[in-house]
Amino acid sequence: MTKGGLLIKNIGELVTCSGTDAKRGAGMSDLGVIRDAAVLVEDGVIRAVGKAGEIEKPGLVELDARGNAVLPGFVDAHTHFVFGGYRQEEFFWRISGRSYLDILKKGGGILSTVQATRAATAETLVEAGRRRLDGMLSFGVTTVEGKSGYGLDRDTEIKQLEAMRTLSETHPVDIAPTFLGAHAVPEEYRGKGDEYIDFILDVVLPEVAERKLCRFCDVFCEKGVFSLEQSGRLLLGAKKLGMGVKIHADEIHDTGGAGLAARLGAVSADHLLHASDGGIDEMARAGTVAVLLPNTAFCLGETYARARDMIDRGIAVALATDMNPGSCFSESIPLLFALGTMYMGMSAEEAVTAVTINAAAAVGMAESIGSIDVGKKADMVILQYPSYRYLPYRTGVSCVEKVIKNGKTVYDRSRSLVY
Ligand code: NIG
Ligand code: FE
Repeated sequence: MTKGGLLIKNIGELVTCSGTDAKRGAGMSDLGVIRDAAVLVEDGVIRAVGKAGEIEKPGLVELDARGNAVLPGFVDAHTHFVFGGYRQEEFFWRISGRSYLDILKKGGGILSTVQATRAATAETLVEAGRRRLDGMLSFGVTTVEGKSGYGLDRDTEIKQLEAMRTLSETHPVDIAPTFLGAHAVPEEYRGKGDEYIDFILDVVLPEVAERKLCRFCDVFCEKGVFSLEQSGRLLLGAKKLGMGVKIHADEIHDTGGAGLAARLGAVSADHLLHASDGGIDEMARAGTVAVLLPNTAFCLGETYARARDMIDRGIAVALATDMNPGSCFSESIPLLFALGTMYMGMSAEEAVTAVTINAAAAVGMAESIGSIDVGKKADMVILQYPSYRYLPYRTGVSCVEKVIKNGKTVYDRSRSLVY
């Protein structure tokens, strides 16, 4: 945190994304842009935002944005970045035609990462997680949601959540942890999904809640994984323990996950590649954020979620990477912008809203991050270019020059060059 003041000056285009809640429908196009702007930061918090001439305070440390664009730090609202081992062979099996769910059914996929994560020490998980967070930070991410779900037993689920707690305390990127104990049915419970849900409800969730190891509980609601009924039972239990809830919904088949998320008051439903019109309308009425994960659709060769339709029907859409060792081993924010705009019908403005204020809302943090507003955390991205419109245009390549976290420069592209 910066003690004293910092003045970010000479901002050609300040993209505030101003607000304290998710933006829906047409509201997603409103970026609250201020030209020729400056931002004043004190004690890690944004104290003033406005036209350059309006914010003057002598004696401050100055950071010159050189006429470039400044945006809120990006929020990656759906990842599985703490895991052991890799699944590079599976990637090539999928390319040559094997299906994601078929690999899981035969004990591979998520279950293969479960073996490697159970075997990994806490230190190994923390160190691998730290390197992955460094990569995210270089893309402008200042807050990331991270899920457990590669333990599927008490000890390893808690080991993953503790690794995220350690990382949140020691790495500049903030972490919103989610418990995903119902990510797959572990081998020990093969064919006994109901009993596994009982085990989570009776043994793991109460401890995780008591120790405040997560903000949310999530479930992989999918044909052959957890049914709608099992998912609902688990999430109701989590709500009783005071947790917020999320759902991996309608990713590969329409199982009614979108509607369930709406009825449960979930903060978000994620994936939604096969969500029905009815499910989408229920989400719009309930105000459930749709967290869409185009990098995963791209890697799985699936059709993209219907972002355009969802926005037009009044849903708040967020975009996230889903970074994980299987379906999408990519934390690429540039890829998100490219796919969101080129293949999902989103405008540049909507895509920016989707990785800032709407993503913050998807992790229940829109009051403190996701926009450049007085009183929020001073988390910002300075681009190498004068406009946010370069984010999709600079296809698949990062536009980030500097990242400010709590008022401090924590990434500087020019300083990462070693010649
Ligand atoms: O969001 N779909 C389920 N879970 C993750 C993938 C996890 C994995 O393959 O390891 C997802 O895509
Ligand atoms: Fe996921």
